[in-house]
Amino acid sequence: MSIKKSLLTLSLSVALTATAQAETFNFSDQAKKADAIVVFQAGDTPSAGLAQLNKQSNDQLMKSLSVAKFKGDSKQVVEVLAPAGIDADRVIVVGLGDSTELNAGAVNKIGASLSAKLSKTDAQDIQIFTKGISDNQSNASFAAELAHGISLRAYKFDKYLSKKKPAEKNYSLRVNQPQQAKTTYKQLEAVEAGVFLARDLTSEVPTEMNPVHFAAAAKELKKLGVKVKVLKPRQIKKLGMGALHAVGRGSAEGSRLVVAHWEGNNDTPIALVGKGITFDSGGYNVKTGKSIARMKSDMAGAAAVLGTVKALALQEADVNVVAVMAMAANMVSETSVAPGDVVETAEGLSVEILNTDAEGRLVVADGMWYARDKYKPEIMVDVATLTGSKVRALGDRYTAIFSEDDNLVSQLTVSGKAVDEKVWRLPLGYKDKLKSPIADLTNIGSGGPGATTAATFLQQFAGDTKWVHLDIAGNALISADKGVNPAGGTGHGVRLLSHWIMNNK
Ligand code: BES
Ligand code: MN
Ligand code: ZN
Repeated sequence: MSIKKSLLTLSLSVALTATAQAETFNFSDQAKKADAIVVFQAGDTPSAGLAQLNKQSNDQLMKSLSVAKFKGDSKQVVEVLAPAGIDADRVIVVGLGDSTELNAGAVNKIGASLSAKLSKTDAQDIQIFTKGISDNQSNASFAAELAHGISLRAYKFDKYLSKKKPAEKNYSLRVNQPQQAKTTYKQLEAVEAGVFLARDLTSEVPTEMNPVHFAAAAKELKKLGVKVKVLKPRQIKKLGMGALHAVGRGSAEGSRLVVAHWEGNNDTPIALVGKGITFDSGGYNVKTGKSIARMKSDMAGAAAVLGTVKALALQEADVNVVAVMAMAANMVSETSVAPGDVVETAEGLSVEILNTDAEGRLVVADGMWYARDKYKPEIMVDVATLTGSKVRALGDRYTAIFSEDDNLVSQLTVSGKAVDEKVWRLPLGYKDKLKSPIADLTNIGSGGPGATTAATFLQQFAGDTKWVHLDIAGNALISADKGVNPAGGTGHGVRLLSHWIMNNK
């Protein structure tokens, strides 16, 4: 027992070594000496900074750009060795595309392309000439969103690599309103910290990120004034959450219910419920094929809601948001739930478990009950890597959104577009496919669209609370760099939820 315990503490300390943000950003209206200078061009319109540098170089810069077939398209990035007359090693020219289409998400992606390019150079001090450029809001917003995109893409989960990430870069952005840019970036930096937490948790290997490790990571947020509560298997069972309890029954540590509450005001809270399967083997319906190796990411919904709470707490946001995370490892052992078992949810509905691989809806169902019963939220949003069916329908870029509430769907659609974490609505329904001869529900639909039958299962646990379900299967872990996300855990959902909460309060 004591050996077991010390092993646990040992692995705990490994798991909590977070990947800290490395890049630094400084907003100023003064020029600063740097080894790389960054300027822009929207379509065929060079920015004032580019025009100025070109003049200094006696037109050499424009000549180089035309040789490189630079058209100023969005995210096009060209690196030029600085011609005579320019006091730096290199000039990086970044395309903005059609400047009328520059929203925050687009600027983030441009920042990400720039970040990817700079990561291949040894440039340390980078001066970015953003003066005069607007993202259709302001120059300050452009600079801040650019920094946000750079930072999001520069993140690296490198704790298991013998060769660590290269030294951090220092960015100095020349802006018209440095104070305003700083203020905006400060908020975005809080969101980044939330995204990075979610990425760290998602990328962490399954043995180092079980429900106990996750609960410990949540407790770290107490430092920020977040109220954190962790229920153990015995308490989970006592409260009647038989479905959450059952899914964790086959694992060494059992299930946990983790609550992280940012009570920034006294309004009726918004509840965010996260699926937290720290590893989904499928259980007795064991997963075959290579997809099983991605199932450390099956707690990404829980990671996203915890990351969102962190982002809100860091901003000391004037909102009341409670995250409820239903944690379990879905493992195979002699104590595991068996296909055919019936479990009792806290809502009072019994469920016949016809497939142990449809475990997400079981844990989320009890999480939704807990959120409603204890916090009486105005709105409840659950986030879950719920179905392969969602991935087949929408792939890994769109999130599937399900709700009876058109207004909430449209709010989240707007936020999704703004931060480029887009949602696409799929229908609820096919409830007749969830009939069981011996229980109130089965956990898999007998036919019917899988993402919809899973969502409809969850709907049975929403009561009359306004409810939205986000199926983020496929969005959570990517195998190649894309946009603001380096390969690995994406932290998908943190930016969407943060934007939605901050813009609809
Ligand atoms: N965690 C999976 C869903 C998933 C698939 C997430 C791919 C990320 C990428 C979920 O628990 C699952 O196994 N769902 C089954 C349900 C089926 C047995 C009804 C699925 O979708 O295949
Ligand atoms: Mn599963
Ligand atoms: Zn799962």
